[in-house]
Amino acid sequence: MMNMKMTLTYFVATIAIIGAGWTATPAQAKDARDSVLAHYQAQADQTGGTPTIFSAARGKALFQGQFTTGKPETPSCTSCHMATPTARGRTRAGKEIAPLAVSATPDRFTDLKKTEKWFLRNCTSVLGRQCTPVEKGDFITFMKTK
Ligand code: HEC
Repeated sequence: MMNMKMTLTYFVATIAIIGAGWTATPAQAKDARDSVLAHYQAQADQTGGTPTIFSAARGKALFQGQFTTGKPETPSCTSCHMATPTARGRTRAGKEIAPLAVSATPDRFTDLKKTEKWFLRNCTSVLGRQCTPVEKGDFITFMKTK
């Protein structure tokens, strides 16, 4: 007979297997993205008096902007992500990057840890500084329209 500990181990293993094979439905992805956006909204609202309204137009300007404050080899987000958000990008080493447009890659911006990791890395490369919560919210808002 299985003891409690074994039962628990099987239970945890089963959940892990289900978890690994889990793919978000579009509705689940939207909920997850909304909560990532809510995180940036809360951060943005801490810094100003009036609630921030994220802007797709500002997000587009950030995406297409050419900067001189970061690394010379990456003057723009489009250096790797390409000018069209629905297009596949390419790293400088030649590795393919799935499109950032939510219509093309439905699970974009649904994992806060991942999103934060890449904002930090890429804003530092392109702008020479971290992106602000407003910039992050604007950027995601723009990619949602694409
Ligand atoms: C040097 C190449 C490069 C540049 C320049 C670059 N990125 Fe990226 N970006 C990547 C790679 C590689 C990934 C990770 C692969 C993936 O998510 O498909 C990524 C992923 C991301 C993600 C994660 C998206 C998610 O699914 O959560 C965000 C956010 C992002 N980039 C924002 C930016 C922004 C904003 C800029 C411009 C300020 C920028 N990137 C410029 C290479 C780049």
